[in-house]
Amino acid sequence: MNILILGSGGREHALAWAVMQNPKCDKLIVAPGNAGIAQIAECASFDIEDGGEVVTFVAANAIDFVIVGPEAPLAAGVADRLREAGVLVFGPSQAAAKLEASKSFTKEICDAANAPTAGYGHFTDAEAAKAYIREQGAPIVVKADGLAAGKGVIVAMDLQTALDAVDDMFGGAFGGAGAEVVVEEFMEGEEASFFILCDGKTALPVGTAQDHKRVGEGDTGLNTGGMGAYSPAPVLSDEIAQKALDEIVQPTIDEMAKRGTPYQGVLYVGLMIKDGQPRLVEYNVRFGDPECQVLMMRLGAQAMDLMHAAAEERLHEAQVNWADDHAITVVMAANGYPGSYEKGSVIGGLDAIAADSKNMVFHAGTTEKNGKITASGGRVLNVTARGASLQEARDRAYAMVDAIDWPGGFFRRDIGWRAL
Ligand code: AMP
Ligand code: GLY
Repeated sequence: MNILILGSGGREHALAWAVMQNPKCDKLIVAPGNAGIAQIAECASFDIEDGGEVVTFVAANAIDFVIVGPEAPLAAGVADRLREAGVLVFGPSQAAAKLEASKSFTKEICDAANAPTAGYGHFTDAEAAKAYIREQGAPIVVKADGLAAGKGVIVAMDLQTALDAVDDMFGGAFGGAGAEVVVEEFMEGEEASFFILCDGKTALPVGTAQDHKRVGEGDTGLNTGGMGAYSPAPVLSDEIAQKALDEIVQPTIDEMAKRGTPYQGVLYVGLMIKDGQPRLVEYNVRFGDPECQVLMMRLGAQAMDLMHAAAEERLHEAQVNWADDHAITVVMAANGYPGSYEKGSVIGGLDAIAADSKNMVFHAGTTEKNGKITASGGRVLNVTARGASLQEARDRAYAMVDAIDWPGGFFRRDIGWRAL
């Protein structure tokens, strides 16, 4: 099979790494890719959010199967264009991608599916939103409806912060994403993510994970795209995971099918767990980044067969072969991230790290310049290891981190603390 992966982050490097291990893969192209991906696959450059360009590239390169990494091409309808052209694709339609692209749509689906989630109100004008906030009181959560690169959520511990957030959102701080606002009940508990492959009908769990969103040790400081992750998430016991499947995931998939917009791809289910009860925080229509890196570490080559089965609507006959192991990834980011940071610093020591099925440095924002790997993004490397225990995986991941010579970057020393 000739395979095309769309995307350029650590997530896509991990997907490419898993696909390359599968003997069914004859050729792999990643667009646009990065310096790490270029070491294991061909990279191509075109506009991955333009369905027409993607279809043209697929035809010219005899691609049999497309895996879409990030949400933006999905929200732009790239999977629809590929399906119209008769190309097999892993990733939801534009209509189904609304589960991430619109928070009010997700709430509407939860209502219809009777799925446990935070109580909410949905507003298109600031005064009504503020009246609702005053009535409910703080703490309370204010969310821009649309895609806002993970920045459109304000968890307000006091009333004024919530009221200010409403003004910011309707004032255009998040562009079009803030033209509608969802105000939600603040949920207490422990967060974890549950990853489910879907083929429109069947839901197949492919792992649980927890990430560290804050930039600083002890989960302090500014929010980031994620500074590290591990899998499995101990808080998502088999029993709670089954509850989430029965009460949230399957009813959502059934509701989407009933509406004529079946969900196919990976569903990233963000959960809040308290007293043994999971409630939905959010859906994403893609793998998490860096959660994908730990999931791929654990799944290996079978990940490609599973994604292929989802695209061909045969997940009911698919099975995950679980090794009883743990994986962890430590993100190395450019100094200054998530604020402004410099690009172009040289990363040394990578050649000395032996990559194998248990140890891998996935690249995110890297570029090769004159034979050297340089940093070209905020999150730059995802140092990932697998082991019989989380402690063993973690020790090996940090040993790799310590072998990397990059004065221009930083990382958190405490990834996985909650689970250890
Ligand atoms: P979201 O983009 O919806 O995942 O929100 C980002 C983060 O805000 C989540 O990962 C939670 O930590 C937090 N959050 C979102 N909604 C709620 C809620 N209703 N109650 C408490 N925390 C929330
Ligand atoms: N790591 C969080 C996300 O991918 O949305």
